[in-house]
Parts: sequence; structure tokens; C-alpha cells
Amino acid sequence: MSNITFTMIKPDAFANGHSGAILDKIIKAGFRIVALKLTSLSKEKAGAFYAVHQGRPFYDELVEFMSSGPIIAAILEKSNAVEDFRKLIGATDPAKADAGTIRKLFAENVGRNAIHGSDSDENAQIEGGFFFSSLERY
Ligand code: CDP
Ligand code: MG
Repeated sequence: MSNITFTMIKPDAFANGHSGAILDKIIKAGFRIVALKLTSLSKEKAGAFYAVHQGRPFYDELVEFMSSGPIIAAILEKSNAVEDFRKLIGATDPAKADAGTIRKLFAENVGRNAIHGSDSDENAQIEGGFFFSSLERY
């Protein structure tokens, strides 16, 4: 069990002005910010980040959406980080997400769903490395 996960506040939530409220929920849930940046993904970078979904029906739309505006990327630390963060964000489809979860509160729909959370310790390491060098981690 690793104590690190990776997240992005997605373009919908950033554009809708939810970044502050989302970061507040993350911090109040006990996650420590290890690394943080406001940035954006080119289509090429978004395609690479979500390469595991290549060939799925939603892939092109996902790449288009994720490269459509600024995002906030972060590495977060907490015991049992990956599992606890997935609980905090809720189901992929906000219609199926539990009350009080970030996606229930802030997502528009299954595609524009406000936030990313790593699904395994291995992917948390890979995804954190996609955005941050060791010098950008505290
Ligand atoms: O983000 P999460 O791990 O919950 O879901 P995923 O299955 O790894 O899918 C990655 C992202 O693709 C989702 O967060 C959605 O933005 C998008 N997606 C979609 O647009 N339509 C679907 N049916 C499934 C996922
Ligand atoms: Mg996923």
C-alpha cells in the first residue's frame, strides 16, 4: 500500500470556478499536497495520459475535453491514499456517485466529471511522474 495518489481538477470544474472548493474538500479529508500546478494538456499529452482507454468509444471526446482548458494537477499524500481518494471523488458517473462526493457535488456528467483520481499505486506513480519532477515535490 502506497500513501500517494495523483489527481487533476478537470477543465469543466476549473472553468466552473470549483477549484477552491474542491481543494478545500481534499485538504479537509486529510490529504497533504505534495505537488501542485495550474497547467493544461495538449491533445497529444491528453491522448498519452489516457492511452489505456484508446479504442474505447469515449476516447476521442475525452482527449478533446481534457485538452480544452486549464487543469490543476496534484500529487497527494495520505495513508491508503488511492482507495480513500477514490471514495472522496465518487463514481465515474456523477449520477451514480454517493452524496457528498466531489463528483456528485461538482461534475456535469460521466465525461465532464470534474476530477481524476489514480486507480492503483502503480498508476499513481506513473501519473505523478507525467506532470512533476522530483524538484517539484515537497
Ligand atoms: O476517471 P475514472 O477512473 O473514474 O474512470 P475511467 O473509466 O478510468 O475513465 C476515464 C475518464 O473517461 C472518466 O473519468 C471520464 O471523464 C471518461 N469517461 C467517459 O467519458 N465515458 C465513459 N463511459 C467512461 C469514462
Ligand atoms: Mg480511471
